[in-house]
Amino acid sequence: MTYYANTLVYTVDRRTPEAEPLRIAAETLRRGGLVAFPTETVYGLGANALDPAAVARIFDAKGRPSSDPLIVHIAALDQLDTVARDLPPLALDLAARFWPGPLTLVLARAERVAPNVSAGRDTVAVRMPSHPVALGLLQAAQLPVAAPSANLFAHTSPTTAQHVLDDLRDRVDLVLDGGPTSVGVESTVLDLTGSVPTVLRPGGLPIEALRAIIPDVVYTPQYLGEQESAQGPGMLLRHYSPHAQLLLYDGKAESVRAAMRAAALRLLAENAIVGAMAYDEDRAAFAGLAVEIVPLGPEANTEQISRRLYAAMRELDGRKVDCILARGPSRTGLGAAIWDRLIRAAEGRVIEVD
Ligand code: TXA
Ligand code: MG
Repeated sequence: MTYYANTLVYTVDRRTPEAEPLRIAAETLRRGGLVAFPTETVYGLGANALDPAAVARIFDAKGRPSSDPLIVHIAALDQLDTVARDLPPLALDLAARFWPGPLTLVLARAERVAPNVSAGRDTVAVRMPSHPVALGLLQAAQLPVAAPSANLFAHTSPTTAQHVLDDLRDRVDLVLDGGPTSVGVESTVLDLTGSVPTVLRPGGLPIEALRAIIPDVVYTPQYLGEQESAQGPGMLLRHYSPHAQLLLYDGKAESVRAAMRAAALRLLAENAIVGAMAYDEDRAAFAGLAVEIVPLGPEANTEQISRRLYAAMRELDGRKVDCILARGPSRTGLGAAIWDRLIRAAEGRVIEVD
């Protein structure tokens, strides 16, 4: 397929986006083009979810295997019937409570949705984003829009328009630049098609918030290798990765700090360029060492850590570090999503410290 053209970039107001760029972007989607746009989680790479040829361009532009299904974005509840069928009452309860917002529901797929959106499955993942630019675009297009994160396959997700351009310049027709995203990690994916509601991916909506409504909601973290990935779409272990090797430490904070300092000393002695994504509490551990530090803020501020996480990985890649040291957060609230992204970026390797 040869369609790559120059990418148009429109800067829009994040709260009240201007009508004209939204109209042009909507027209691009209606013509079968690709539009990258901000959501509250990460930037998405959108195409008309009812047009299989447009959807195919998403997979092509990202280099994403066609076996990995996409999320369909809608702007209003009355669009839900266009994309999903046999809605369980729970879906409507959750939609009423958490939409627009960072929750994706896996439901039975309606006929009209292009089959390649769902990688041939009879289910479809749907969410209503809360970002005014995303909602404005969806309303202007009057279409359900399939959109994965707007990064190259397996790379770090984009939280700014510049990240999108760094990965996909000239592979996307138009980018709406609405500034940095506020949540920073992708939506929580909840499968409602099985016998028990199951979280497939922890994300911007904490599992605790779901558990308040669905006490028996299941979340079993699974970190699969390339071989097994066919069973759990998007659960592929190597995902969200920076180019540098991520060394993920877990254990008692004090011990981890000592271990990270020792590792930094050893790596620096080997002439490696060493990076760290550090909570404020950890920065002293690197005192006096030539470590490239990107601060994540206080350990307790998981909202800020989520918001900064992917940009921190990209920043350190930009500084050409060979490896990135990071300490695993507590797994509650947004911590579950942060841990999930870190362990995938580390390709499943965790350095346990007592
Ligand atoms: O926050 C987000 O969800 C962002 C923004 C752009 O909305 N989108 C996003 O899309 O993260 P993507 O394609 O990078 O991740 C979609 C996830 C993958 O883990 C995929 O396997 C899962 O949702 N998924 C999509 N459709 C599914 C389906 N029918 N059944 C099970 N999992 C599905
Ligand atoms: Mg993604």
